[in-house]
Amino acid sequence: MGSAESGNRSMVVAAILAAGKGTRMYADMPKVLYPLAGKSLLARVLDTVQKAGINRSLVIVGYRGEEVRQAFATYPNVEFVEQTPQLGTGHAMQQLLPVLADYQGDVVVLAGDAPLFTPDTINNLIQVHQERQVSATILTALMPDPTGYGRVFCTPDLQVETIIEHKDCSPAQKLNNRVSTGAYCFRWPDLAQVLPKLDNHNAQQEYYLTAVFAMMHSVIAHDLVDWRESMGINDRYQLSQAYEFLQQQVRYRWMKAGVTMVLPETITIEETVQLMPNVTIEPHTHLRGHTTIEAGCVIGPNSLIENSTIGQDCVVQYAVVRDSTIGSGCQVGPFTHIRQQTIIGNNCRLGNFVELKKTSMGNFTNAAHLSYLGDSTIGTKVNIGAGTITANFDGFNKYPTIIGDRSKTGANSVLCAPVTIGINCNIAAGSVITENVPDHTLAIARSRQVNKENYYDENGRKRTAGDSAKLP
Ligand code: UD1
Ligand code: CA
Repeated sequence: MGSAESGNRSMVVAAILAAGKGTRMYADMPKVLYPLAGKSLLARVLDTVQKAGINRSLVIVGYRGEEVRQAFATYPNVEFVEQTPQLGTGHAMQQLLPVLADYQGDVVVLAGDAPLFTPDTINNLIQVHQERQVSATILTALMPDPTGYGRVFCTPDLQVETIIEHKDCSPAQKLNNRVSTGAYCFRWPDLAQVLPKLDNHNAQQEYYLTAVFAMMHSVIAHDLVDWRESMGINDRYQLSQAYEFLQQQVRYRWMKAGVTMVLPETITIEETVQLMPNVTIEPHTHLRGHTTIEAGCVIGPNSLIENSTIGQDCVVQYAVVRDSTIGSGCQVGPFTHIRQQTIIGNNCRLGNFVELKKTSMGNFTNAAHLSYLGDSTIGTKVNIGAGTITANFDGFNKYPTIIGDRSKTGANSVLCAPVTIGINCNIAAGSVITENVPDHTLAIARSRQVNKENYYDENGRKRTAGDSAKLP
């Protein structure tokens, strides 16, 4: 999503209300720091403001404000303004009076707990406000369920007559489903003139910002196209609704860009993920962080890929891949766990119950069944036999294992690190390898088999000494 048009407009600053406590979240942190799909609510609002081309944001903080300030200490173009105690949204805006004393431009007001507005929506609000040359423009929405929101009453051409908070509405007034989204654009000198006149004579005994409109001459409403953008996060149910809305958008965007999704509603994809056309995502698959999936891959069902790159034409099923890179043409899974900077070459096969950690693997190498390969450097065309384990940990430190090109490990071999196996070697099944193996070597490290013939009689009983005399 590119940044929206902000071309020829006059001066705008943003004011973001973020001083409230967020009681209904039962949170152990200020509400605006709550993460939504890997990014805090306030970070989302600030990023939207930035993308809308507004380069001064005044964030009003109060409840645990120090934590909010610290979380955004390095953010560009952000200033903090203190509101203590918190006596309502109008009181929050009053704190800007000294900060913007000589300011003549417009102010876009947003709530720190409403993170879903797009940069285009903010720009449209500003554009309408400036074209109509009004004192204030309220971003309104026609909500299917307006419970809890302030109701906006308008003339047919959307001149605002009055706005009444839910708790102050009569039953008849509650039927109006045009609500204030809590986002506004004000001509600042006009707002600054009426802010000092607010009182707290209402159901919540707060200084409501919404009470300023009755004191202004020209106030208009501007309806949102998609009301869901205005969803505020007041509790954890709304947090999940917002997440679902974001996910719908991300999935839609990728499907329009040539990605196939089977049962898309079971798939989650963070906004940081990159997908190529002709990727197929199967159900119950989750792509997170800085993940890239190249063309032709089939990912899932039931896979989690995080901060990893998957090369072209791979098939990954029932797998967990984290912080790793996989080449092209690989088959991964079912039930493979790849982690911690593992690097897999091209055309490899990693199968059932195989775990790789901090391991590199050359092209055409397979580990198809029941293995743990940790801190290993494995060459090309190697075959890791079923049940091969690198014993890389002595209780204190981790040690490396090296396996040369074209070598094979037998089933159930244990490679006690640090150890190096040369090229073209063969490790006999069941071996416990504690010493390096030179190139072109067959290594056998197990006790020799003893066969005690006729040890048991026809009934499966151990023969006695007397019986053995009767042996043929
Ligand atoms: C507010 C609006 C309501 C609108 C709704 C949209 C008012 C009086 N009501 O209601 O018309 O429909 O948003 O979501 O404005 N805050 C402060 N300082 C305070 C109080 C609040 O910074 O003293 C911040 C909160 O942290 C929050 C935002 O202002 O980010 C909105 O406050 P909240 O209490 O959630 O208002 P709503 O009841 O949602
Ligand atoms: Ca709210």
